[in-house]
Amino acid sequence: MNILLVNASPKGERSNTLHITHAFLDGLMSNGKHTLKTFMLKDKRIEFCTGCFYCWNNKDGKCVISDDMPEYTQLYKEADVVIFSTPVHFFGPSARLKNLFDRTLPFHVPEIIDRKDSGQRHEYRWDVGNKKIVLVATCGFYSYENNVEPLVKLFDICYGDNYEKIICPEGTLFSLEIFREFTQSYLDTARKAGVEMASRGRISDETREALIKRTFGKDDYIYLANNYWIQTDENTTPEEKLRIGVRQRTMQMSKMFDESLFPDEPVVVEMKFPELPYTCQLHLSRKGNQAVEDPERFLPHHLRLVLNPERFLAIASSRTNAKAGDKSNNVQMNIGKLTQIAVRLQKKGSSMEMKL
Ligand SMILES: Cc1cc2nc3c(=O)[nH]c(=O)nc-3n(C[C@H](O)[C@H](O)[C@H](O)COP(=O)(O)O)c2cc1C
Repeated sequence: MNILLVNASPKGERSNTLHITHAFLDGLMSNGKHTLKTFMLKDKRIEFCTGCFYCWNNKDGKCVISDDMPEYTQLYKEADVVIFSTPVHFFGPSARLKNLFDRTLPFHVPEIIDRKDSGQRHEYRWDVGNKKIVLVATCGFYSYENNVEPLVKLFDICYGDNYEKIICPEGTLFSLEIFREFTQSYLDTARKAGVEMASRGRISDETREALIKRTFGKDDYIYLANNYWIQTDENTTPEEKLRIGVRQRTMQMSKMFDESLFPDEPVVVEMKFPELPYTCQLHLSRKGNQAVEDPERFLPHHLRLVLNPERFLAIASSRTNAKAGDKSNNVQMNIGKLTQIAVRLQKKGSSMEMKL
């Protein structure tokens, strides 16, 4: 199978979406012989269509613009599967992808075919064969509704039933190691989707269902997202920046543990940063996890972690290289293990301090 990956993120290799795309590709290519070619839009020169219709006045469908479009045309023609990997930008595809689509006008002939209910079309100039199209997209908002519909509609109109889609809100979670425990299972499902696509030519209904499930609840996700941005200006000192970063990551951490694993009475994990100084407690309970910064609301700790701010921030902000099925080097899992120690300490009615 010839597979073409069009990476339409302006971030190139640093794309959130690409994590899911790679997992899907890993599954797709796990069996049999395949060739993968990547068209990284950010590194290509693709000019805007000028609307001159030279391509339609000229029966070879040639375009007047001289750029990297012929390379794409050749790759597209040769491909059996084309994967468009894009962020949602202002409810649609990235501008680069939209621009690429515009430039495929020469792929089509000028005659309008009326397909009644599914609208009017210009047929392909050449036989596109049984090309399968896959859309992989991530976005930053929590909801699909009033958000990704324009992107999906574009693909529905262009490719009808002949395409598969993996659309993941909460896309911002995919690049950070700290969220790995949550993103890992999504990546594994995306891989499974790839395996199914290779063997049956489509993603099963069960996997499609799993691919629209969210990792976090809405309120928790919005809380996490809103705590993500470090708002600083030219007057912010490096010490303040460090403090803000540490605060944001510790606040986020409270949302990272499965509340059902904790008892009703809060398990208290204290995170102490003597160099800053800053202390935050995580109150972990079946009734709801909380990050507490106000010393007046502090409870006696079960586990106290004494942390170095730089080291903590480097770990908590590190970018993930997670691949589907890869369970190694999972920082989040390690912190998860520490909270389980705290649960055991609470059961025994004791406490402990660890310097990390
Ligand atoms: C210019 C711009 C516009 C965006 N528009 C939306 C949007 O309409 N809806 C949404 O949910 N997220 C939006 N986002 C967030 C991105 O879709 C999200 O961060 C995505 O995971 C980025 O993917 P990438 O890293 O693969 O480029 C926008 C981001 C940028 C930079």
